[in-house]
Amino acid sequence: MLDKKTATAMQGTAPIIAATGVGYTLDVASRPLQILKDVSLRVQPAEVVAIIGPSGSGKTSLLMLLAGLEQPTAGEIVVAGQRLNDLGQDELALFRRRNVGIVFQSFHLIPSLSALDNVALALEIASPRLGLAQSRAAAADALKAVGLGDRLTHRPSALSGGEQQRVGLARAMIAEPKLLLADEPTGNLDQASGAVVIDLMFDLARTRRTAVVLVTHDATLAARADRVFSMTRGELTETTGTHA
Ligand SMILES: Nc1ncnc2c1ncn2[C@@H]1O[C@H](COP(=O)(O)OP(=O)(O)O)[C@@H](O)[C@H]1O
Ligand SMILES: [Mg+2]
Repeated sequence: MLDKKTATAMQGTAPIIAATGVGYTLDVASRPLQILKDVSLRVQPAEVVAIIGPSGSGKTSLLMLLAGLEQPTAGEIVVAGQRLNDLGQDELALFRRRNVGIVFQSFHLIPSLSALDNVALALEIASPRLGLAQSRAAAADALKAVGLGDRLTHRPSALSGGEQQRVGLARAMIAEPKLLLADEPTGNLDQASGAVVIDLMFDLARTRRTAVVLVTHDATLAARADRVFSMTRGELTETTGTHA
């Protein structure tokens, strides 16, 4: 038996992602199309990992698998101690609400809702027991944290791209996920707005120990991550330190 202190220390270093030998093959026009081959990835709490690679190489597919939105056809994916292979659709949905935040390239905000309600809604879905007032108060805090305290009542159409992406980030973080998955989150932003969004992700990783997996085509951004991986035709290779 481990004593309590050792057990706690070990828990502290348990990876958020432990993906081993992951394959993803789809039947396309009744032929197997291999999208991911033998992908392994471990990510620790508070770690920021960047994935670069050409279009069509499998980056988004990997994020979908890590989010439990698709199931691998080979290998094992453990996120926050849960073996995703073992979970059914409903359990996966619940798992995502509790553990995973997702930021997309295009912001996917609800156009008819204010910034505040876009974020509050995500929290209500994650924590249905919170009342509306509490969800809104937490959403206001989250928006202040991303520098949008004076944009709470704005609808997405009245916000710049960078501001919309920051709302997307606040929404992804509001339920304090252990894992944040970001798919080219700066792809639609100018360099300055992109840098702000990335700075916020690093802040969140450092202050809340959120593990971040960031897909980007921007090598300069990738170089800021703790570790960098390259995806080529479905194969993931660590290239930390080999990029400019
Ligand atoms: N549902 C699907 N059906 C058929 N092909 C798919 C599907 N999802 C992804 N692909 C193919 O898998 C490859 C990898 O796609 P994707 O993961 O989106 O790459 P990336 O994000 O690196 O651009 C592409 O060739 C894409 O066309
Ligand atoms: Mg993609």
